[in-house]
This record gives sequence, structure tokens and C-alpha cells, in this order.
Amino acid sequence: MTAKSRFGFSAVLTAMLVAVMLALATDVQAQSKPNVRPPEGAQQWGGPAQVPTTVLPQPSDALMWRNIRRGVVGTVSIPDKQAGQLVQSDGEAFRSWRNGPISVWGGWSLLAILVITGLFYALRGRIRIDAGPSNKQIERFNGVERFAHWLMAGSFIILALTGLNMLYGRYVLLPVLGPDIFALLTQAGKYAHNYLSFAFMIGVVMAFVLWVRHNIPNKHDFVWLAKAGGLFSKNVHPPAKKFNAGQKFIFWSVVIGGVSISLSGIMLLFPFEMKMFGATFAIINVFGFGLETDLTLLQEMQLAQIWHTVVGLILIVIIIGHIYIGSLGMEGAFDAMGSGMVDENWAKEHHNLWVAEMEAARAPRK
Ligand code: HEM
Repeated sequence: MTAKSRFGFSAVLTAMLVAVMLALATDVQAQSKPNVRPPEGAQQWGGPAQVPTTVLPQPSDALMWRNIRRGVVGTVSIPDKQAGQLVQSDGEAFRSWRNGPISVWGGWSLLAILVITGLFYALRGRIRIDAGPSNKQIERFNGVERFAHWLMAGSFIILALTGLNMLYGRYVLLPVLGPDIFALLTQAGKYAHNYLSFAFMIGVVMAFVLWVRHNIPNKHDFVWLAKAGGLFSKNVHPPAKKFNAGQKFIFWSVVIGGVSISLSGIMLLFPFEMKMFGATFAIINVFGFGLETDLTLLQEMQLAQIWHTVVGLILIVIIIGHIYIGSLGMEGAFDAMGSGMVDENWAKEHHNLWVAEMEAARAPRK
């Protein structure tokens, strides 16, 4: 593709994406308007109930029901003390956050990364092997490494698609597919999402064990970052070992984000069993934050849901960039995870110190 046609192609794609996003944002915002609004002076999220629990025998039913809507907690004799709160009004705030700002900003972020990669492709084109292929191959990733990568990648892609369907499907797919097919698809997606999460967790643990020693930051990372990895100019190749600073960013995002999304996902898979956020807030409070730590199981679930969605969206955005550079964006990159073998000139341009290490290891000892 010539630079001109690449630019035209990206411009059309960007215009189409912007149009779809604008339509979606308007729709999401319209639908996220609370249809059940908490009354004036309702309990704030995490705050104490506004009305003492002894207030229930009251002169008027209207007053009693208003207090219940405000989140008053009564006493119950059954083991589940949460049953003492008939209406948790702060749930409405949670719902508005999920369907409002989080959905809208998530959508804009997805659009932004698609536009950025599109523009990058239009302006820079495919990053070529500057010296041309040498046709000499060296092994970059062995079978176990590739298995770990594709286990993590395959499951992540399905988790991402089914997760996005849970957030945006009713705006995007429901009107196109109709309720019957959409319900079937979403239900199947939900099962896939629940079960494939375990494959993803295993993949992340494997990738961590296999690659952590190559991802400890070193002095070359600063040079790599200062030169933006040579991504924007031809014939610029800052030195790097097995992984450069950009790849280390991907690795740590996947490990930290992956563990975090897995823990919040486990809370959602086994609802009302764990109190992770209260415990985490207690640790954060060591730095003087004063966060509420005595959360109810319902509040824990709401936080897990919000956290899972936000971390998921951030990871998807990062991984879109990774998929681009690992496939279309750079000549010779995909082979590393495809066959495991890369062209020697590619390796020398992008990972010269690693090639030197491999050659030194292979050289006969004197
Ligand atoms: C179709 C999708 C994908 C493609 C084409 C792809 C491609 C690649 C390639 C070619 C490499 C090796 C780069 C090198 O030789 O240095 C790599 C590494 C890696 N991939 Fe992927 N990948 C995909 C999806 C994913 C997903 C979904 C994840 C995680 C959720 C992931 C995580 C990683 C990590 C952590 C590394 C090592 C660090 C790095 O090279 O950035 N990949 N990938």
C-alpha cells in the first residue's frame, strides 16, 4: 500500500469509528440516566445510614418507607445481617457509574487506541527490517513459551470480546441481532467468560515464571525510551536485551493487570464470599488515606464489578497496541510467536544485546 492510500484508508476508518462512537456515546448516556433516583439526602456510598435503626415504628407509613429508601439498617435475627437493609440506595450510584462515565470513557479509550494505531500505520507504515531479511533464522521462543503466550492471548481475546459484549452488547449488537439471538450469544459468552478465565490465569502465571527474569528494568531501558524505541524513524535501533522497555511495559501491565483482574473476577465468580477491598483499603490507609474499611459484602461486590471493568478496559486498550506491533505493524515480529524462529537481521536490529548473549553462549569455550 502506498503512503497516500494508507492515509486515505486510515482517514475513512477513523471517520467511521468517530461516527459510531458519537452515536453510541449519546445512546449510552441517554440510557444511563437513572430511572430510579435515590431520594434527597439518601445515604452516601459507604456512609452511615442517615436514620437510626430504632426509628422504624413511626407515625406515618410514608416516613417509614422514605427511611427505608434512604438505606436505613434494621436489626434481623437471621445470620445474614445484610438482610437488615431492605434497600441499598447507593447501588443506584454504582449502576449510574457503570452505565455512565465508565462505559463512555471506556468507549472513547477504545476508539482512541484504534485511531492512534491507524494513524501510526498511515504515517510510519510497516516497520521493515532495515538491513533486509538475512534468511538466517534463530530461535527466539521455545514451544513452552509459545504455548504460554497463546494460552494467555487466546483466552484474553475471548474474555475481552465477551466482556465488551456484557458492557456494550445491548447498545451495539441487540439492535442488530434482535433479542433471541442476542440472548443466546450473550449467555454462551457469559459461560465462555467464566470458564476461560482459568486458562487466562494459568497463562499469566506461566508467562510470569518464564519471562520475569528478562523483564527487570535495566539502564538500556532509559536509552530505549529516550529514543522512543526508534519506532518513529528508520535506521534507529536502541540497544536491547531479550525484551526492550516497551515490551517490559506490556509484560508488567499483563502481570499486574492480569492478577488484579483475576482477583476481582474470582470475587464475581463466587459472590458474597470475600472481602478483598476492605483489606486492601486497610493497607492503603497505612499511608494516611483514611478510606472506609468496614465494607458490607454488597459494597465489596459493587467495587469488584467496577474495578474488574476498569482494569479490563485498560488492558484491552494496551493489548490492541501490542497486537498491532506484533503482527501488521512490524515485519518479522509475528514469527517470534508463530514458528518461534526469527530472522537474524530482525533480531540484531531490535534485540542486539540478546543476540550477542546467545552467540556468546553458543561459542565454544576456550
Ligand atoms: C493476536 C494477538 C497477539 C499477537 C499477534 C501477539 C504477538 C506477539 C509477539 C510477536 C510477541 C513476541 C515479540 C518479540 O519477539 O519480542 C509477543 C509477546 C508477548 N505477548 Fe503477545 N500477541 C498477541 C496477543 C497477546 C495478548 C492478548 C497478551 C496478553 C493478554 C499478550 C501478551 C504478550 C506478552 C506479555 C509478551 C512478552 C512481552 C512482549 O513481547 O511484549 N499477547 N506477542
